[in-house]
Amino acid sequence: MCGIVGYVGPRDVVSVLLDGLRRLEYRGYDSAGVAVVDGGRVLGSKRVGKLANLEHVLETNPLHGSAGIGHTRWATHGRPSDQNAHPHLDCDGRIAVIHNGIIENHAGLRAELIAKGHRFASETDTEVVAHLLEEFYKGDLVTAVRETLARVSGAYALGVLCADAPEQLVFARNGASPLIIGLGEGETFVASDIPAILNYTRRELIVQEGEVVVVTRNGAKISTFGGQHIDREITQINWDVGSAEKGGFKHFMLKEIYEQPKVVKDTLVGRITEQGGVNLAELQLSDEHLRGVEKVTMFACGSAFYAAAYGMYLIRQLARLPVELELASEFRYSDPVVDKRTLAVAVSQSGETADTLEAVRVAKAGHATLLAVTNVVGSALARAADATLFMQAGPEIGVAATKTFTAQCVDMALLAIHLARVRGATDEALLLELGRALRDLPALVDQALNADEEVAPVARRIADAKTMLYIGRHVNFPIALEGALKLKEISYIHAEGYAAGEMKHGPIALLDDKVPVVVLATRGPVQEKILSNMAEAKARDSRIIAVANPHDDAAIEHADVVFTVPSTHHLIQPIVNVVPLYLLAYHIADRKGCDVDQPRNLAKTVTVE
Ligand code: M6R
Repeated sequence: MCGIVGYVGPRDVVSVLLDGLRRLEYRGYDSAGVAVVDGGRVLGSKRVGKLANLEHVLETNPLHGSAGIGHTRWATHGRPSDQNAHPHLDCDGRIAVIHNGIIENHAGLRAELIAKGHRFASETDTEVVAHLLEEFYKGDLVTAVRETLARVSGAYALGVLCADAPEQLVFARNGASPLIIGLGEGETFVASDIPAILNYTRRELIVQEGEVVVVTRNGAKISTFGGQHIDREITQINWDVGSAEKGGFKHFMLKEIYEQPKVVKDTLVGRITEQGGVNLAELQLSDEHLRGVEKVTMFACGSAFYAAAYGMYLIRQLARLPVELELASEFRYSDPVVDKRTLAVAVSQSGETADTLEAVRVAKAGHATLLAVTNVVGSALARAADATLFMQAGPEIGVAATKTFTAQCVDMALLAIHLARVRGATDEALLLELGRALRDLPALVDQALNADEEVAPVARRIADAKTMLYIGRHVNFPIALEGALKLKEISYIHAEGYAAGEMKHGPIALLDDKVPVVVLATRGPVQEKILSNMAEAKARDSRIIAVANPHDDAAIEHADVVFTVPSTHHLIQPIVNVVPLYLLAYHIADRKGCDVDQPRNLAKTVTVE
């Protein structure tokens, strides 16, 4: 949460900072600010609200400098306000600090610094860092940063500039707060995430936990907090620049929904043979190792958790392994039973979600083998893992996950088929059939987007609903959960995802003519049961919106509205079914005038617990 940027080089510093912040705004959008060094002074500007407010101020009061830092905030300590916006300054206004994360011991430090005469201007935890730097600064900024880091605890990425160092920035990282350095020709960029620097350079250094980086226009020097030099290999980024742009769509989310066919295709590249065999040669886990696995433990948060839930059904059914599924935020409190015969599967688009990383720590302490399913090469999760299964979704800017969920589900299916084959747990013919269904999936997801025509008018009719239910069974239950989460996140309409069989155990009491029910009613072994649930909801006057296969009269009969999706194997069908649910959430939110790409109170990557 929070986005931070830095730049040293010949370009207009503030323009580069604002460009970076615009691309990081998905990380937090309560307030924004920049600071630059200009002629031996630190100059800054910050404003509560969206970045546009800051841009407006800077248009009338422009700033210029030789180096600068910028920040977009998701408030933790101190409400969104001009005062609490970053950067924060020391008493003399000669040192400026930006921060992503939490300084856990800020209260004690604040009291200590106030007793020494420091004057605080904000309620934030961050400001203690500026005053500690002031205490320790004796002409060498890097030393002052090291001494400050020795006093603070928590998870953070920090950026510092000083009036005395016109072409130097110092950054530090501890814990789950991502930080990357972009290397240009005679210029250097710093950011919390790749899209912020993609327009300028593809060569990046990934800063790891416990590292300090001194940034100049000639590059970056990385060392440990203790001062030991680190040689870091340059990572070449192959993401498409265009994928971080809206490309004519009204919102990033809509564009990302429409990118699903490509993302599915890219995630399958090189992994399916002509006959439908799944080939995960890249998985750094030998067949022998996988045959020795006795249990799979899966954990994740939010949409990634629902993708893991889909994976759970497939792995259980196809690989015939016991699978435990836990919310990452609960995992470490649940005293989990893991050992060296456990395969722990952590699913995270960003690979930086704090709760997921904590769960990773617990799984590793129990000697489980850690498999990471993530979108970001070089993320903390990817680095912690014994093996990685990447999705190929490219940058996702909309705060609500869409294309990355689809890619996660594809990875889940690939993993389940691979485990099943290696362990000889399922008939090869079925595995090949599933592989072929995956191979054909990009075209089917593309066809499912045609449902847009059916979805848009329905969204108009139900945009005033106060609550909605999404129901599904078996592999479609996670899709019901994901559909409901998406609606909640971006339209602020209360929605519940339910296992359809649970309706009679309580939620059916909610139903009347004002509660639309979305039913995942595509063909499969549990379809008859879900059709009964649909009839029960219809009998309570609910408006029924069914996701169904073409010409499936049994499903169509009970529905008021049908979103038609092409048919595939019932175990793969959920990846097609989610498409109209994304469109429905999108159109309802857009109709209500909600901020689709940056919903209130949310941030894309949750790097605090
Ligand atoms: O980066 P991650 O996949 O670990 O993120 C997990 C969740 O924070 C994320 O899926 C969140 O629920 C999104 N807002 C869903 O749209």
